[in-house]
Parts: sequence; C-alpha cells; structure tokens
Amino acid sequence: MSLGVLASLAPSVYRRIQLSRAKHRSLAGHSRMAKRLARLLPGYHFDDQVFFKCDNAPFEIENSRRKAFYKLSEVLKARHPLSIQATAAARESISDMQFIAAYRVPFQFSPLVQAHLKVGSFLQSASGVFVTDLDGQSFYDLTGSYGVNVFGADFYKQTMMQGLEKTQSLGPVLGSYHPCVASNAERLKKISGMDEVSFHMSGTEAVMQAVRLARYHTKRKNLVRFCGAYHGWWEDVQPGPGNPMPPRETYTLSDMSERSLEVIRTRKDIACVLVNPLQALHPNTNAPGDSTLVDSSRKAAYDRQAYTEWLHKLRQACTENGVVLIFDEVFLGFRLALGGAQEYFGIQADMVTYGKTLGGGFPVGVVCGKKQWMHRFHAERPADICFARGTFNAHPAVMGAMSAFLDKLETPEIKRVYDGLDDLWNSRVRYFNGAMQTHGIPLQAANMSSVWTLFYTQPSRYNWMLQYYLRIHGLALSWVGTGRLIFSLNYSDTDFEAVVNRFVLAATQMKNDGWWWHAPEITNKKIRRSILKETLFRA
Ligand SMILES: Cc1ncc(COP(=O)(O)O)c(C=O)c1O
Repeated sequence: MSLGVLASLAPSVYRRIQLSRAKHRSLAGHSRMAKRLARLLPGYHFDDQVFFKCDNAPFEIENSRRKAFYKLSEVLKARHPLSIQATAAARESISDMQFIAAYRVPFQFSPLVQAHLKVGSFLQSASGVFVTDLDGQSFYDLTGSYGVNVFGADFYKQTMMQGLEKTQSLGPVLGSYHPCVASNAERLKKISGMDEVSFHMSGTEAVMQAVRLARYHTKRKNLVRFCGAYHGWWEDVQPGPGNPMPPRETYTLSDMSERSLEVIRTRKDIACVLVNPLQALHPNTNAPGDSTLVDSSRKAAYDRQAYTEWLHKLRQACTENGVVLIFDEVFLGFRLALGGAQEYFGIQADMVTYGKTLGGGFPVGVVCGKKQWMHRFHAERPADICFARGTFNAHPAVMGAMSAFLDKLETPEIKRVYDGLDDLWNSRVRYFNGAMQTHGIPLQAANMSSVWTLFYTQPSRYNWMLQYYLRIHGLALSWVGTGRLIFSLNYSDTDFEAVVNRFVLAATQMKNDGWWWHAPEITNKKIRRSILKETLFRA
C-alpha cells in the first residue's frame, strides 16, 4: 500500500509512520530507546598495560606513548602545582568538577587520565585574550566562557563595573524595576523585531518560558527540536540519557529534512519548533565533545546558503500550521551579527531567546516575542494564566550590565567588529587548515564564523590526547576539548597566528610521540567494531 493510500484509509497510522520517518534515525531521535540502552552499557577501563596499545600498536610505539604520557603528567604537575592542588581539594565538594573531570576523554581512558593528566579548574585572572591560573601560567583562551565571551574579557569587566555603577543606588531591591530595565526592553525589541520582552536568570529558563508560552497559546502539548541541538538542561529539551523523560512528547526530528517539514506542516499536536542555529555547523549531531571522540569519524561543515534555505522553508511550514517558531539564540545571539541569527539568516521568528553575552558578564536569559505569543493571561478568562516569575528576574546588577552591553553595541567601534566578520574567520580557518596540512598533521577545522570545531583526518583512538598537548603549549580549551573552540572577536591577527603556531607545536609533538600511529588497514569502522567487541567481552 502506498503512503498516499494509507493516508486516506488510516490517517492516524499514516501520521504515526510519517512521524517515525521524520525522527532522526540515530538513537538521539529515539530517546526512550537511547535511555534504555544507556542503562545497559557496561563500563570498563584500560589499565597501564592496555591503555597505550588498544589499537595493537607495536612495542616501540606503545613505549613512546607511555613515556610521553608520564612526561606530560610531570610537566603539568611541575607547572601548575597550586591550581592542581586547589582542584583536588575542592573536587569532592563540587559535583560539577567531578563530572567534568570524568568526561574529558572517552570513558575507557578516563581513570588513568584523571590519575595522571591533572588539569586545574581554577583561574585567578583574565585579560586580552588570555586567562591566568593560580600558578601565574597564562593560556590563550579558546573556551569563550561557553559562548558568553564575544568581545573579550576586558569588555565584560567594563560592562560589569558600569552595570554596578548604574544601579548601585538601588542595590539589591527586587520586584520593582530599575529604570534601565525599560530602556533595555525597548532596545531589545528593536534588535529582535519583536513586541515584548521577558527577563530570566539563565538561557535554560528563557527557553522554558518560551516553550510554556507556546503551549499556552496554541493549546498544543508537544514540541519539536532538531537532532543534536542543545537548548539547556531542562528535560523537555533534552530527552534521553541523563534526564527524566518529559511528561509531554518532545519530537527529535531530523534537521534539514523534508520529512520533518511535512510533520510540522500537518500534525495538530505541535506547539512550537525550537531552532538552535549553531546546528548549521554539524546538523543532526550533538555538540562535539572529546569524551565521545572514540575514532576519527567526527566531521563538520557549515553551508550558510543551504541552512538559510532550510530555515526559510521551516518558517513557512510553521506559519502554515500555526506552530510557534522559536529561535534559540542563547549561544549565537550577538556573535554573528548585531541583530543576531535572525538578521544573519534573514528570518523573523515568533519568539527568540537570548542569554549568555547579553548579561554583559552576569547571568541572564531573555525571551523576546510577538505580542500574540507573549501575553500571559486572557482578560476574558481571568483564571487561565501562564505563570512565569522568578525572584531574581530583572536583577538591577544584571540589568545595569545589560544596559552597558547594549550601549557598547551602539558604538561605531563595536559596529565595525561585525564588518566582514565571516570573511575574516573563514580566512583564518583556511590559514589554520593550510598550516596543519603543511606540517603533515591529521587535523582540520570547520567553523561557523568564530565558533570552531576540530576533526581528525586519519583513523585513531587517541585524538583526545591533543587537548593535553595544547594545554602544555598554553592553549586553554573548555572541558569538551577540541570539539569546540570559541574565539572572542578581539583576537588580533597576531594573537591568531600565535595560536596556530602553538597548535603546530603541540600537534607535532603528539605525532612524534606516536599517538597518531595507525595500522595501514585500520578504518573508523574497524575501530568502532573493536570497541563493540571490547564492550561485549567485558559485559
Ligand atoms: C542554544 C542554547 N540554549 C540554551 C542554553 C542554556 O543556557 P544556560 O546555560 O544559561 O542555562 C544554552 C547553553 O549553552 C545554549 O547554547
């Protein structure tokens, strides 16, 4: 029976099949199954005997890796004693630190790495494009503070200070507003092209509020997110392993897929579609972290034109079916263009969420939306409300820093930063990739403007080691490692060249130490097969 015939004879069966076909075929598209499997996956780890030759490397390579590993351990300990000591002392008390330490590298390698390659979690200062740890060691900052740092640490030091100055006469008073709240709202309306604004404490909260409003107004329960997209840590936007299942359905559909559009156009239970445009860099895959870097199959490529076309079609599908289109710009807002991703891709969403950098260095979440979606009560049905308050929403210090941030956005100096921004970062990525090729390093970068991801061009189980070599060459990465580099826009050409030179030094050392040795017949597929065997054998 063709799908067309099925649609007329058994529409509910047809809709079910249509939805299944639009869900991403990976486990990420099937959160219940993923959750069940995650519970079954047994843990195992490599001891010193297997760690250096899990790819069947010959003795001299194993030996070279072992020596290099323990030497790296010594270098880190000698250079960063205070930072490492402070981290060890605090780790038992701070749950997040334990989690981060455990998930820097694939789990098989994690215990030995945690025991020997110590990374300090404390810093004492930041300036220019550098951060400095408790031992006075400085690193080029490639972490971007989870994306908050768009314009450089000094910029935010100023906005934080100016924000406190602007609002210090009101101090901690909450419930009533400092006058800068009103001007922030006006300016955000202009930037976003929306009618109303609400203030929250984090990006996660802003997304929760946008989704809650969409459900309230559409009277539909379910939401669509695209496979791999991050929208905060709340379960409705992160169903699957690690979280309780949401009480309502979250459909995790394939990004950039006609089948997904068909579902969004036709189903009557979808309140909203969430889009995180950062996914354009790696559609349908999670934010790439080194803890999942088990082989070299990580790939990324950003096609601005194709993604723009997709967003236009998505806009159209949402409009046709009364589905609220929410642009989640918590990460990308103000990084790509003054008017954010909406301006950059030429799309007007129904609601847009901001956060991170907009707080001028303080924590924040913001929802901007069209009037019909933003109001929280119906005059004719007074008991039917959509409640959203929060003690610290519109906190004076945050609003003051946001006001200072928005002031700075209006200066010619900052406006100039956006001129030719993509061209600048695209040429930098070409320079980086050329340097890696010239030096015979199996490493390439893909970028969406100043947000980069690295991938590896030959099969290996040890790519994650690069983060430690980069560290000893003075490059600071966030805990996800080489999967995400975030440059602040104050990186000069000289700073950038220095970073590339350090990459060359670090990667050459790693290569010479034997980590990228591989048997001629090895492929990524064979690596994954051998991991499966290890898992089954040890289960
Ligand atoms: C696109 C996006 N949405 C939401 C969030 C959650 O923001 P927060 O960490 O402030 O809760 C993030 C955080 O990385 C994000 O990147």
